[in-house]
Amino acid sequence: MKVIVTKNNEDASKKAFELIKEEMNNGAKVLGLATGSTPIPMYQDMVNSDIDFSNMTSVNLDEYVGLAPDDPQSYHHFMQVNLFDKKPFAKTYVPDGLATDAEAETSRYNKVIADNPIDLQILGLGRNGHIGFNEPGSPFDSETRKVPLTESTIEANARFFDNENDVPKFAYSMGIGSILKSKKIILMAFGSAKADAIKAMIEGPATPDCPASALQNKDNVTIILDTEAASKLA
Ligand code: F6R
Repeated sequence: MKVIVTKNNEDASKKAFELIKEEMNNGAKVLGLATGSTPIPMYQDMVNSDIDFSNMTSVNLDEYVGLAPDDPQSYHHFMQVNLFDKKPFAKTYVPDGLATDAEAETSRYNKVIADNPIDLQILGLGRNGHIGFNEPGSPFDSETRKVPLTESTIEANARFFDNENDVPKFAYSMGIGSILKSKKIILMAFGSAKADAIKAMIEGPATPDCPASALQNKDNVTIILDTEAASKLA
């Protein structure tokens, strides 16, 4: 695991985009993508670049259960607005938030991942150490499944909704095991609210209590932080 500490999220996002370009030059065809505030500046850099993504495939980490693709709070919508509308990809995959048969939807998505092995996975980090919506307690070998969101995640994500009660209580999320199958992984975390999770992830034991600690001891993982997120590291 390589840890890079940058001055701020702009520098961090530029670094992440450089790594994406490097992997694309090396033949990467499938990007695993995340939503949330962390990757937004990197998506802006991608949008403002002259790089062509029209031969690329993307596979997103997660989607809220119950939200339609055109719902402004859905992760489908987030990806359209922040990236795909401006930089078209050949194929984009996001779990279907409206799927009512969770078993059918999760096996469909596991097949999407198997058919499109991820060359480079981009991750953010939850304050509680989650990656994707793999909340504390998630097994390291988990695949895509329907997961309940913890109170801390609902509270953290309430900022995107009019009311905390509107935050969905479940999501479809790629599992930790599926994330670990990616050829390369970049995790970004910014701000002091992430400092405890970063410390637990990097310096604590590898345990499902901190899902991101599954990335420890992996040569193919790069962690890109700003100084605040890195502030509690020894
Ligand atoms: C989003 C996702 C989540 C976020 C995490 C951090 O697709 O999988 O794990 O990366 O909750 O969110 P932000 O970036 O909003 O702090």
